[in-house]
Amino acid sequence: MYAVAPAPASTLRGRHFLDVTDLSPAELAALLRLARVLKAAPGVEQRAIARGLTLALLFEKPSLRTRVSFEVAIAQLGGQALFAAGAEFLIGSRETPEDAARVLSRYVDAIVVRTHEHEPLERFARSSSVPVINGLSARSHPCQALADMLTIEERFGSLDGLRIAYIGDAKNNVALSLAQAAVMLGATVQFGAPSSHRPSKAALAHLQALGKASGGVAQAFSSAVRAVRNADVVYTDVWTSMGEERYRERNDAMLRAYAVTDELLSYAQSHAIFMHCLPAHRGEEVSEAVIDSGRSAVFDQAENRLHAQKALLVALLSDAKGFVP
Ligand code: CP
Ligand code: NVA
Repeated sequence: MYAVAPAPASTLRGRHFLDVTDLSPAELAALLRLARVLKAAPGVEQRAIARGLTLALLFEKPSLRTRVSFEVAIAQLGGQALFAAGAEFLIGSRETPEDAARVLSRYVDAIVVRTHEHEPLERFARSSSVPVINGLSARSHPCQALADMLTIEERFGSLDGLRIAYIGDAKNNVALSLAQAAVMLGATVQFGAPSSHRPSKAALAHLQALGKASGGVAQAFSSAVRAVRNADVVYTDVWTSMGEERYRERNDAMLRAYAVTDELLSYAQSHAIFMHCLPAHRGEEVSEAVIDSGRSAVFDQAENRLHAQKALLVALLSDAKGFVP
């Protein structure tokens, strides 16, 4: 048997998780602690947590990691998953997001949505009486950020005082959620991107405000080298996100100088790791040599999607008791 979990995680029961900022820094830290505990102690005890509960996964875009890691997570917690994709589920196409949420809340115990625009997802969540989890929207990818923070903590012990360089499309969903979580936990985020692909002034100011209590900072550079200099972590993502395909040629041309190669990594600290949420376009935003190198943490990140999301489900669906050995 296990004893009692970190107390702050229990406050998440019944809440939605649409953005990293839905959590306080203390709740984020507690969730990561819970993920570490669950990862270290897999076993039958976990199967009682969500016994008899159903998690719906409603995806308007393709997915490998998010879908499979949530399905495995709920199964390991004793519950079951239900998956609907594409035309079967398009927020607001057959009925309003509000009506769809009210109906689904009568059937299932939590809902993961992968969608395009963020605003219909917020409307959907406001009308849902069960927790709604953002499994990626055009704005943010908070579940990815949980796994990223877990991976960085495993490598460095803590985020506090670390430098994370995010290179490439620094305006995308992965960049925003990563930066929010990192500054909340006391890291400095250095974006390296052309002005067209950098967070807006307002977004940077919001990141500064988020990081104020912990000492977290966000800065943007147009030089990839300046952004990477002295970094502990170098992170990139695809240059064109799902739903943005019409901009692919323009993005390829504008971001070519921001590819993460051995040469660029040489400006980071010698212990720096490489991160990518995957799927990666090898030979575009990252070279084969970097992603396959000993510095690459990408498969640990992918694995940690499972552990981080299991912690999230435990926190949203239970009082999070029963997990600290
Ligand atoms: N990183 C990530 O969300 O992967 P999928 O698109 O495969 O879910
Ligand atoms: N920025 C990417 C992340 C995929 C996991 C996208 O939205 O397509």
